[in-house]
Amino acid sequence: MKLIDGKVLSAIIKSEIKEETAHWVAGGGKQPHLAAILVGADGASETYVASKIRSCEEIGFKSTLRRFDASITEDQLIDEIEALNDDDDVDGFIVQLPLPAHISENRVMEAIDPKKDVDGFHPVNVGRMCKGLPAYISATPFGIIEMLKRSGIETAGKHCVVIGRSQIVGLPMSILMQRNDNPGNCTVTICHSRTVNLKEIARTADILIVALGRAEFVTADYVKEGAVVIDVGITRVADPSKKSGFAIRGDVKFDEVALKAGFITPVPGGVGLMTICGLLTNTLKAARKEIYP
Ligand code: GUN
Repeated sequence: MKLIDGKVLSAIIKSEIKEETAHWVAGGGKQPHLAAILVGADGASETYVASKIRSCEEIGFKSTLRRFDASITEDQLIDEIEALNDDDDVDGFIVQLPLPAHISENRVMEAIDPKKDVDGFHPVNVGRMCKGLPAYISATPFGIIEMLKRSGIETAGKHCVVIGRSQIVGLPMSILMQRNDNPGNCTVTICHSRTVNLKEIARTADILIVALGRAEFVTADYVKEGAVVIDVGITRVADPSKKSGFAIRGDVKFDEVALKAGFITPVPGGVGLMTICGLLTNTLKAARKEIYP
């Protein structure tokens, strides 16, 4: 079994982006500027956004955090998004999800200018990705593709099974794995909560991407000997022995699956650390106007 180490790979990618940014700015380019909108005080969202802002500082980007109370109305939030759309200094921005239940995430995503949608969630970016046109690829699919590419994993002709059909992971992952590219060229099956014989299908996967958000759902009997197992799950489970009071678990029962897998990503220290690299890559592309010249 080979461990795909998100800590090592994300550090390499961040240092590459830092170098490219320094080169771009030294050549007279605009310093990339990422803005983030955070609504409410969800613990996990606070952690993710703080880490995004910290990463910007580390690699030489400008960053802005705009915080709003959970009571903000949908219309007020749309006004804030339009202000960022119109702000020429901001190259790209994100609205951290989830949002409070009274706000439509779809309406919010559609209000973001696709040129500044560095999360790659706007229908224009999703549609362009599906058609193989230049687009912002969302952070988690980007991270997984980089892990496969940089680990030298052969994907052409392989059977890739994606467990989970979410808009931000399962669906885009399935598109990217079947496209005529490297990584890609897989035969792809998407499984979800209504799939019959999920375990039998998973067992036929050469590459198993698990993104359903249920701690340790995938046990060794879901996995073919030698398969590549990518664990996207990040679930907090109560753990009184930890200072925080919780531990992080993936969707895969790591200890037993690792004995069978050819390659596996750990949690924590796997896909989660890679996602930020996607956001930073997209922000640099936005500053350089690479996707929408
Ligand atoms: N919530 C969980 N993942 C993400 C992400 O990639 N982007 C945003 N905006 N919110 C998230």
